[in-house]
Amino acid sequence: MSNKLNGKVAVVTGASAGIGLAAAKRYAAEGAQVFITGRRQSELDKAVAEIGNGVIALQGDVANMDDLDRIYSAVKAQAGRIDVLFANAGFYELGKFGDISAEHFDKTFNVNVRGLLFTVQKALPLMPDGAAVIMTGPIASIKGFEAFSVYNASKAAVRSFARSWIVDLKPRNIRINVLSPGHTQTPGLDGLLNDDIKAMLAAGTPLNRIDTGDDMANAALFLAPPESSFISGIDLFVDGGYAQI
Ligand SMILES: NC(=O)c1ccc[n+]([C@@H]2O[C@H](COP(=O)([O-])OP(=O)(O)OC[C@H]3O[C@@H](n4cnc5c(N)ncnc54)[C@H](OP(=O)(O)O)[C@@H]3O)[C@@H](O)[C@H]2O)c1
Repeated sequence: MSNKLNGKVAVVTGASAGIGLAAAKRYAAEGAQVFITGRRQSELDKAVAEIGNGVIALQGDVANMDDLDRIYSAVKAQAGRIDVLFANAGFYELGKFGDISAEHFDKTFNVNVRGLLFTVQKALPLMPDGAAVIMTGPIASIKGFEAFSVYNASKAAVRSFARSWIVDLKPRNIRINVLSPGHTQTPGLDGLLNDDIKAMLAAGTPLNRIDTGDDMANAALFLAPPESSFISGIDLFVDGGYAQI
C-alpha cells in the first residue's frame, strides 16, 4: 500500500460486512484513521479484528437519528473531523409490484433515502473544505430489475441527491459522488441470489465476473481526496460493463 490517505479521517457506514468492510480495510491500509458503523456489535467486533490498523467501531442504525448523533459525537471527540464519508449502508429485499407492502416501502426508503440523507447532512459540520462524500448507489438506479422497483427507486434518489447537494454545498467545496456497484460478492447478495444466478450474472458481464468487493474498494479509494479532487457529482459504475451494454 502507498499511504494515500495518511492523516485523513474516514467514516464508512455499514462496514462490518460486504462493500463497506472492503472499503474500510482499504482506507485503513492506506493510512486513514477509519471509523466503521453497523447495527450488530458482534459483527463490528469481527470487522475490527479483520481490519486492524486502529479502526474504531461505532454501533448504530443509519435510519435512527439518535444513533447518528451519537456516532458523530464520538467521531468529533476522537478525531475532530471527517475528510471522507462513505455513506454505504443500504437495505435490499425483493418486492414485486402488485404485492408491495407499506412495510417493505418504509423499510427500504427509511434506510436508503432518509437514513442516507441524514447520514450525510449530520456529518457536514465535521467536514472541512475539500472533504469528500461517497454514496453507494447501484446500477439498479438506472435499470429495471424484476421485483426490485422500490429498491431501484430508492437508489435513484441517491443519484438525485448528489446532483442537488453539490450545488447546495458550492460555498464549502465539498465533493459528493456516487459509486454504483454491479453485482458484488457480499453476505447481503448471498442472502438474495444462489450460485447459479450469480454465475449467470457473471456470464452476462463483459468482464466475465462479479466484483469481489475489491473493485468497489479501489473505486472508493479513487474518489477519496486527493486523487479525484476535481470530480464531483458523478455516478461511477463499478460493474464490469454490465449496465453499459
Ligand atoms: N452486493 C451487491 O451486489 C450490491 C449491488 C448494488 C448495490 N449494493 C449496495 O451496496 C451497499 C452495501 O451492500 P452489501 O451487499 O455490501 O451489504 P451486506 O453484505 O448486507 O452488508 C451490509 C453492511 O451494512 C450494515 N448495515 C445494514 N443496514 C444498516 C443500517 N440500517 N445501519 C447501519 N448499518 C447497516 C450491516 O451490518 P448490520 O446488519 O449489523 O447493521 C453490514 O455491515 C448497500 O447500499 C447496497 O444497496 C450492493
